[in-house]
Amino acid sequence: MSVLVLEDVTKTYPGGVFALRGVSMAVERGEMVAIVGPSGSGKSTMLHVIGTLDRPSTGTVRVDGHDVSRLSDRQLSALRASRIGFVFQQFHLASGVPALDNVADGLLYSGVRQRERRRRAAAALTRVGLGHRLDHRPHQMSGGERQRVAIARAVVGEPALLLADEPTGNLDTASGAAVMELLHELHASGTTIVVITHDREIAAALPRQVRMRDGQVVSEGVVALSAARPSEPGGTA
Ligand SMILES: Nc1ncnc2c1ncn2[C@@H]1O[C@H](COP(=O)(O)OP(=O)(O)OP(=O)(O)O)[C@@H](O)[C@H]1O
Ligand SMILES: [Mg+2]
Repeated sequence: MSVLVLEDVTKTYPGGVFALRGVSMAVERGEMVAIVGPSGSGKSTMLHVIGTLDRPSTGTVRVDGHDVSRLSDRQLSALRASRIGFVFQQFHLASGVPALDNVADGLLYSGVRQRERRRRAAAALTRVGLGHRLDHRPHQMSGGERQRVAIARAVVGEPALLLADEPTGNLDTASGAAVMELLHELHASGTTIVVITHDREIAAALPRQVRMRDGQVVSEGVVALSAARPSEPGGTA
């Protein structure tokens, strides 16, 4: 089943900005997709609409089978909290709060008790290679480490869909590569991922690329699995 379906989605901002002009696409479970395109082409707008942070002006968005236009704001928040993980260029961690709690807060609305939230948060941090940094505050960590905390928080609830908007945009090449390696690992273990990037190399290493221009999808590319990443078990994309 498709995790995500967009049908003829438009987004118009006040002042006559046509940020999305009829976007249709589907993302299947287990896919890893790069969204690429020039600045202002509508990539972040599309990610916000996909992530139910924003409603489309017209058209249909279906996340994990739910038509989001039929959901109330409260139901939408619940869907977002349980099915979608977000990673942003600016990390968006709570400052002064230990990594463990930053990640555990990703489960705040899940109904999981605090003790179990912290246990799962520690496991998620270990998974991203930060098992030795549980008590570090964001200002005590490198940019790459902060982004890995953000990824741990995004995936701790095992979302159906992980959305990342320029996750390597604030990182040096080596840290960015480590973050992408982590996203590839999550993909290999079954997570569905949509990642915006303007980095051609990063995009080329992903199994599928969606190119945007002026609010529309202008082309799609699928890199052969064998050419994508030799280390992956393959078969899902
Ligand atoms: N809140 C808003 N109000 C009005 N116009 C907006 C708003 N947000 C975005 N836009 C406009 O919508 C268009 C698409 O913006 P968007 O942020 O989706 O681009 P992008 O592809 O993510 O660009 P970048 O690569 O620079 O991040 C742009 O022309 C932008 O100016
Ligand atoms: Mg953007």
